[in-house]
Amino acid sequence: MKKIAFFDAKPYDRQHFDAINPGYRIVYYDVHLNKDTAPLARGCQAACAFVNDEVDKDVIDALVEEGCTFLALRCAGFSNVDLQYAKGKLTIARVPAYSPHAVAEFAFALLLTVNRKTHKAYIRTRDFNFSLVNLIGTDLYGKTAGVIGTGRIGQAFIQICKGFGMNVLTYDPHPVQIDGVQAVELDELLAKSDVISLHCPLTPETRHIIDAEAFTKMKVGSFLINTSRGALVDTGALLCALNNGIIRGAGLDVYEEEAQYFYEDKSEKIITDDKLSLLLTKPNVMLSSHQAYLTEEALSAIARTTYENLDAWFASKPLVNEVHA
Ligand code: NAI
Repeated sequence: MKKIAFFDAKPYDRQHFDAINPGYRIVYYDVHLNKDTAPLARGCQAACAFVNDEVDKDVIDALVEEGCTFLALRCAGFSNVDLQYAKGKLTIARVPAYSPHAVAEFAFALLLTVNRKTHKAYIRTRDFNFSLVNLIGTDLYGKTAGVIGTGRIGQAFIQICKGFGMNVLTYDPHPVQIDGVQAVELDELLAKSDVISLHCPLTPETRHIIDAEAFTKMKVGSFLINTSRGALVDTGALLCALNNGIIRGAGLDVYEEEAQYFYEDKSEKIITDDKLSLLLTKPNVMLSSHQAYLTEEALSAIARTTYENLDAWFASKPLVNEVHA
């Protein structure tokens, strides 16, 4: 029986992986995968990791040393993996798509929240405060959504925007034809959009794609939604844009330095990341802990594809979801 070291395991992961385990011995570890924890994979033939596990040179060497030949990423993104270094040492596969709708729907939920301030209304009425002062939103109908990245999630988000009667502009270096949607250059999208939603991967080109200069090109009073990767946005520049009113509201499911905080209960700890603390003081920021993917359908699909990747690897069958440098 093949043994798999499963890092950063949460109760919902165990539940969905155990439900359809085709016959692997899975050893679940709560801890993140890093150079200190990689030796836990001793005697395992594969490891399974998630978005905030750090798969750098040291970790790759350690996993190989412990006997792993395969790393099954149970996520779509792989910006946390040193693919170049892994080449020829550790084969890596991912789950390219599990539910684009889960992420797109959550992105829109963030937009509705920061626009209509339901997060504040919830807290107010719990406290028997039925005042509407400072809860004014804007109609989304007739407004323009700018979608950066028109892959699976971007396209699902566009359909939701269209359902709300919004106009849609898109920017993608590999544009696709989408009915009723206009593909434009990035600067035009920034200048004309009331809502900007990020749906591109994190790459050297997209790192800080929303930086101080980008904020100067945006309409005053626009909304920024990021459910992709934190480092797409320069957080310092976002804080300035929030302070000077360029951004009317920000919905963030990801954060540049999320790895040491997200998915964990830090409520009893001192948060030493001042930018994160500052973001959380803003009433017009809704920040969630990388949960956009978290639906029953997506968790089941993640488990299914991860097992398919493991099965293909151990049976020496074509590995359709392999990630290459
Ligand atoms: P996808 O691969 O289907 O689409 C990505 C699109 O981004 C492609 O059309 C690509 O051409 C485009 N792109 C690449 N470089 C670009 C650039 N410089 N500017 C604009 N567009 C660019 O990926 P998918 O499935 O739509 O996922 C998008 C991102 O969502 C992932 O990379 C991941 O970071 C994030 N994600 C977040 C989750 C969450 O729970 N918050 C869950 C799953 C994915």
